[in-house]
This record gives sequence, structure tokens and C-alpha cells, in this order.
Amino acid sequence: MPLRPELYLGDCREELRKIPSDSIDLIVTSPPYADQRQTTYGGVSVDGYVEWFLPISEELLRVLKPTGTFILNIKEKVVEGERSTYVMELILEMRKQGWLWTEEFIWHKKNCVPGKWPNRFRDAWERLLQFNKNKKFHMYQDAVKVPIGNWAKDRLKNLSETDKIRDNAKNGSGFGKNVSNWLGKETVYPTNVIHIATECNNKNHSAAFPRELPEWFIKLFTRENDTVLDPFMGSGTTIDVANRMNRNSIGIEILPSYYEEVERQFASLQQSEVSLNESSSEHESVELTRRYALR
Ligand SMILES: C[S@@+](CC[C@H](N)C(=O)[O-])C[C@H]1O[C@@H](n2cnc3c(N)ncnc32)[C@H](O)[C@@H]1O
Repeated sequence: MPLRPELYLGDCREELRKIPSDSIDLIVTSPPYADQRQTTYGGVSVDGYVEWFLPISEELLRVLKPTGTFILNIKEKVVEGERSTYVMELILEMRKQGWLWTEEFIWHKKNCVPGKWPNRFRDAWERLLQFNKNKKFHMYQDAVKVPIGNWAKDRLKNLSETDKIRDNAKNGSGFGKNVSNWLGKETVYPTNVIHIATECNNKNHSAAFPRELPEWFIKLFTRENDTVLDPFMGSGTTIDVANRMNRNSIGIEILPSYYEEVERQFASLQQSEVSLNESSSEHESVELTRRYALR
């Protein structure tokens, strides 16, 4: 049964100090973006963003295990007709801090906000920056495999002789493929573009993650009983998903209203587990908890 999440109310710059070094397997978080949502939970100016974030990323570097991964969801907005560069500046400064910038995933928002501008199109994606402490980190790629797709049925029906050997690209790129390697495969690795719709009805938070987003990274970078941290917890999506996937979870939130809401959710979850334990045999209650976790 997953442990009850560890929740902290306060500024993560301070609260992170309570977490032991090298203890976290995965950090998945979305901090306030620069100059956005100032009316709801305060905003950090574009100019001061890197300076504000660096002490936090330094603490994250300390608490992450050497084999762990940090996924940072962030997107720069347009200021006076130009994309701001603070995310790029942040990446450069984090590298100086000791982080490796290992990958960038794109979250394609299948249902992006409608709108029309004279000089740009609708914003349909956000960055998910991956940082690590080492080049070797835990990654369970098989956990996120996707169905191979209908194309394979036709393409693999009649293989040519070239399809059966490694066919090197004619342009000298060094790339090549052996089409017959796909024979008999039902699933393949996904790309680094993740197609997920935003969830407008997700709780009382204006910027809550769709549940599938943390779920995908938790599958990819952790196993059961590993520990997941979200230092900007908001409505607690990451923590809730991690908990239901039998991972330990730690959340930090600065606003008491969000923090209390997450605390309430877990208190009632724990209460229902206690009732289940009282009314069922141990085996039955484990089964029910598992079913609950899979919902
Ligand atoms: C973009 S939201 C995160 C939403 C979250 N991913 C969810 O699914 O609900 C950022 C959250 O960070 C909180 N926050 C802002 N500054 C913080 C700080 N210094 N320490 C901890 N939390 C902070 C805000 O109150 C807000 O709830």
C-alpha cells in the first residue's frame, strides 16, 4: 500500500531544506511561469526569474539521487512581440550549477486555447525540460511503449529484399533502417512529443496538470516504492498520481488554500482505506486498494 504523501506548506526555497540529500528518484513540476497568473499565486518577473529559480534548482540538485531525473514544465511567453529568452538563460545557468540538460520533451496540447493573432498562430505546445545529475540515470522505456499503428499491417505485408537488411540512407547521414525488425511487434517506443489534452475541469487550480502528464514521466523514470517530488504542488496532481501508482510522494505548496485542499483529499483517501481494512480481510483490502490505484 502506498505511504501517505509527505506534504509541506511554505516556500519551497525553505521547505526543500527539510528533505535529505540524494533521496528523490523523480521531480516533476511546473513552477509559476514568469509574469503569469499574478492575481492567483503571484508572479515572478521575467528579469528576475533566473535569479529566483537558481537557489531552488540548487536544492533540487542536492535532493535528487544520482540516478534520478528532474522534469521541468515551463514555457516562455511573448513580451512586446518577442518570445522571452528566460528559459534559455535558465538552462545555461543550471548547467553551470552542475545539471546536465539531457532532453527536451514537447507537450503538444491537443486542445490548445482558441485565439487569433495577426503575427503568430495559436500556442499548442509547452516545454518539458529533462535534467539529470549524471549521464546514466534510471529510465524504463518499455513502460511507455505505444501501439505500432495501422501503417505496419500494410508496410510489413510484402517485404522487399532491401527491407530485410539494414538499408543505409542515401544522403550519407549515417542513419539506416531494417524494416523487417518491426515484424511481429505490437508496440514501439514513442517519440519525445507527447500528445495530451489539457484538463479544464481539473479541480480548483487554474494551471493543473492533466493527470496523464505526470503519469507518463512517473512510468518512464520510476518503479513502485520510488519517491516522486513536486516542489510547486498546486492542486497536487503529481502527488495524487504518484500515490495511486504506489510511489512515495512529497509535495510543497506556498498557498494555504491549495495545500489544505490536497491535505483534505489524502485524509479522506486514508479514511476510506481504514474503513476498507476494518471491513475486509487483509487480502481483500489489498485488492481494493490496488483497484483504487488503477482507476
Ligand atoms: C503552475 S502551478 C502548479 C500546478 C500543479 N502542477 C497542478 O497540477 O495543480 C504552480 C504552483 O506553485 C505554487 N508556488 C508558487 N511559488 C511557490 C514557492 N516558492 N514554493 C512553493 N510553491 C509555490 C503556486 O501557488 C502554484 O500553486
